[in-house]
Amino acid sequence: MTVPTQRYPDRPGQELADPAFWQLPPGERQAAFARLRALDAPVFVAEGRGRGHWALVRHADVQEASRLPKVFASAPGVTTPEPARWVRALFGDSMVNLDGPDHAQLRKIVQRAFTPRLLAAAEADIHAVAARIVDDVLAERPDEFVSAVASRLPLEVICNMMGIPEHYRPEIADWVNHASENIGVERGLTARLRMPGRGLRALARMQRMVAGIGRERRRNPQDDLISALVRANVDGQALGARQLGAFFSLLMVAGVETTRNAITHGLTLLTDFPDQRDLLLGDFERYADGAVDEMIRHSTPIIQFRRTVTAEHELGGHTFAPGDKVVLYYASANRDEAVFPDPDAFDITRSPNPHLGFGGGGPHFCLGAHLARVEMKALFRELLTRPVGLRAVGLPDLAGSNFDNRVRSLRFAFDRP
Ligand code: HEM
Repeated sequence: MTVPTQRYPDRPGQELADPAFWQLPPGERQAAFARLRALDAPVFVAEGRGRGHWALVRHADVQEASRLPKVFASAPGVTTPEPARWVRALFGDSMVNLDGPDHAQLRKIVQRAFTPRLLAAAEADIHAVAARIVDDVLAERPDEFVSAVASRLPLEVICNMMGIPEHYRPEIADWVNHASENIGVERGLTARLRMPGRGLRALARMQRMVAGIGRERRRNPQDDLISALVRANVDGQALGARQLGAFFSLLMVAGVETTRNAITHGLTLLTDFPDQRDLLLGDFERYADGAVDEMIRHSTPIIQFRRTVTAEHELGGHTFAPGDKVVLYYASANRDEAVFPDPDAFDITRSPNPHLGFGGGGPHFCLGAHLARVEMKALFRELLTRPVGLRAVGLPDLAGSNFDNRVRSLRFAFDRP
């Protein structure tokens, strides 16, 4: 049986469309990306029935395309295939899929969530939630890291910021899993992100719940994000019920899934590279920021986003035509040897570390980058300094997604409290 990386000898890059490729060990996938980076120009990856995409795999190319949003547009969608029109009509357009003034207007409204005042309040909360999670770990000694630790922090933090009542939260955690469990897994590029019934039902229920809370907060405002988003500000701008639902769903996938995967890969990296773990433990405050960014570079929680070309343009040795689909492989850009010496090493002192884990710059740059960094730093401070010898046990159970570097589960242990 040929392995996916050898199955297409005359069509370099074609393995990216093969679901089996995404089941390979990470090292083999990275070796395939290294071969593509060494080529003179981006390759075309056929996806069947006339469809396909150009793969941008070099750091410089991904960054340039990200910063030229007029040519490399996010509409009609950054995922493959783009969300069906009826899904967008029913659930509202997500800001990741919009361009120009439509995107700028929505981003301006939701940026209220990320003002220094709200972020400062969130920071105090993040430390308290991280400490509580580790209290529970010490008391209950669970052995599965994703459910007991990594997914709890980002979900709690976003729900606290939004002002979601406690009783909805267990259900929200289930909805998030159902809405995202099949994204990019084992179904080939053409089926990616086509939502099964369970995912759609989860999204619909989440939408109804948030719309209900929004109506209540319009009448009865509190000091939380939903109240800020549904009440008109000085420009008279506010989110409607559908827009609020779309933003909440985006935060759940963009903010919860990504951060939980980054934290889980972070634990594996600290276990696999004990010298780096010792360095971090020796002076946590000095090395923590570098460690968090290196975890994000090395694991790249979002593997890729797509753009659609709007005008003829030359980039990276290829001239793109209007209508071309282009995929920005952040996972490859973050291992580009032209930018990162010894790119497969996990080096918490790497400086500079211009990784593209939060995007390549430009108008869509991750809105939650600061929040994610604060969450990871707070949690690892608690995890490394309270239980003694906390470590991953065995390999993470990877979902094999071609969209995000999702971990289903990871066993862990520690020696003593
Ligand atoms: C380690 C954690 C995270 C990673 C790796 C990550 C990664 C990304 C990436 C790659 C993008 C696309 C950037 C682009 O297209 O140029 C993005 C966008 C976004 N992220 Fe994050 N993210 C993380 C955490 C968060 C958190 C905690 C939140 C919010 C609470 C968040 C909210 C968003 C939003 C709203 C967008 C869309 C921005 C726009 O379209 O204007 N992310 N993120």
